[in-house]
Amino acid sequence: MYPIVRKEKLADNIILMDIKAPRVAKECLPGQFIIAKTDEVGERIPLTICDYDREKETVTIVVQTIGAGTERMMALNEGDSLEDFVGPLGCPSELCQEDNLEETKKKHIVFIAGGLGTAPVYPQVKWLKEHGVDADVIMGFRNKDILFFEDEMKAVAKNLYVCTDDGSYGFHGNGSQQLQALVDAGNTYDCCVAIGPMIMMKFTCLLTKKLEIPTIVSMNPIMVDGTGMCGACRLIVDGKVKFACVDGPEFDGHLVDFDQAMKRQQQYKTEEGRAKLAYEEGAT
Ligand code: FES
Repeated sequence: MYPIVRKEKLADNIILMDIKAPRVAKECLPGQFIIAKTDEVGERIPLTICDYDREKETVTIVVQTIGAGTERMMALNEGDSLEDFVGPLGCPSELCQEDNLEETKKKHIVFIAGGLGTAPVYPQVKWLKEHGVDADVIMGFRNKDILFFEDEMKAVAKNLYVCTDDGSYGFHGNGSQQLQALVDAGNTYDCCVAIGPMIMMKFTCLLTKKLEIPTIVSMNPIMVDGTGMCGACRLIVDGKVKFACVDGPEFDGHLVDFDQAMKRQQQYKTEEGRAKLAYEEGAT
């Protein structure tokens, strides 16, 4: 069992949890993810690692309620435990590797985090800062009410730009529009990392292709086993089949077939809706 040692509400339907998971905390690196299960009947939920503390043996995850599985997780409190917490899974971020550090230090990096994508962006920017690499960060949210991690990100980013779709806080516009404004103002970047909803990553990539900025995305398709066996997370990248859980989750964003990935993501909507309804009605 994996005890919840901290639970904090970040926004209306977004929570942060520190989970005591010694083996994962010892081995994980930015960019990787875990698969959690609340109990015997809970769904397997893939979640990116938001932070880790090797001494306290904890891993931080950020959860947004989108279905029955996440609602079940949201209902748990400090002192409760998760039945399963498998990981670290996937490949660590290409930028956050000691072997690539000299090359990484030469880059002008900009991260674009869309909503919940802030959670996986944070450990990457933190790791880079700890290793002497500066990076700019753009955090985009629909509105001010769901903004989280502003102070945490400010502490690790070289420059932090917050934007909201409705203009309720920071720059009025989305992350791509903020990037365009920065480039128009004379900023130059030769590496972009975009993490967030697929539609946001698709449009960011369309812009960065035009701006000729190589772009890494972190793909979040439906996952089941997380070990490359089931095929649920398959994507088309550069015309070839890839599995996000073992080949990714990071890919060259200019080579990802986002339309195919979004179509696959929609396939299970009906089942997810039924499961959520059943959970809310008290059934399992
Ligand atoms: Fe099953 Fe990736 S989740 S192959």
